[in-house]
Amino acid sequence: MENILQLARQRRSVRTFNGQRLSGTDLEKLKACMVEVENPYGIPVSFRLLDAREQQLKCPVVTGTEQFLGTKIRLVSHAEEAFGYSLEQVVLYAQSLGIGTVWVGGTMNRAAFEKAMDLTAEERMLCMFPIGYPAEKMAVREIMMRKGVKADNRLSFGEVFFDGSFDKALTPEKAGVLAEVLEAVRLAPSAVNKQPWRVVVTDTAAHFYKKTSKGFVSQTNGDMQKIDMGIALAHFALAAAERGLPLRFELADPQLPTEAGTEYIATYCFA
Ligand SMILES: Cc1cc2nc3c(=O)[nH]c(=O)nc-3n(C[C@H](O)[C@H](O)[C@H](O)COP(=O)(O)O)c2cc1C
Repeated sequence: MENILQLARQRRSVRTFNGQRLSGTDLEKLKACMVEVENPYGIPVSFRLLDAREQQLKCPVVTGTEQFLGTKIRLVSHAEEAFGYSLEQVVLYAQSLGIGTVWVGGTMNRAAFEKAMDLTAEERMLCMFPIGYPAEKMAVREIMMRKGVKADNRLSFGEVFFDGSFDKALTPEKAGVLAEVLEAVRLAPSAVNKQPWRVVVTDTAAHFYKKTSKGFVSQTNGDMQKIDMGIALAHFALAAAERGLPLRFELADPQLPTEAGTEYIATYCFA
């Protein structure tokens, strides 16, 4: 995949498509990517290509495509982070091919999608992905939706990244070689654009935390903000790998003092 920071900068959710079906080659490339992607939790995600007309699927925020990528994963511990990590690689790859998509966890007729996915009792379809080519102009509905969640804005570097402890904001200057890696994290997509990621950077590691907002946990989609955290971890790891920075993934809470509602998720040690 080409430059991750560049892809992270270019990517936006696409909800208005131009009506053209994906070419056979693009579809094959996406499928191959879905099969190949991995995550540090080792939890596999499977997928199915779905058709809105055949399977009576509805996604009211989307226009101009009938094609969807449905997913399923066993809802075991860390499934959400694993899902976010794996699928964001597919989203970025799609971006690099000029294919538009959007993470959809809420705005769909979920029962129809779940039926089309043939879920077992232990499986969940956390999110699905409309796929197609972006239309030249966004539908008014999409423009309104972007305004509603301030989709073009992100929290500032110093609001989400910390220097050794939560009481000291990290600056890009102090972050040095990690500045661009963290910038790729900052620009990532998240449910309702809440950007729950908080990262404390020490001399030896980057510790990832989730600043929890209310209303993101359910029986059907698990904890959506843990999906956001998986997305953030993927942006970090991909951007670091590209810069030749070796990392080791660890689940080892460093027990740093945190505010209430901030939950430890995972660590990347500078190997
Ligand atoms: C886990 C997750 C779930 C999402 N669910 C929906 C959804 O149900 N409907 C929707 O229109 N957008 C959904 N989004 C897209 C976000 O609203 C979008 O990523 C965010 O507003 C930032 O905008 P951008 O992707 O254009 O940068 C979801 C994003 C994530 C990461």
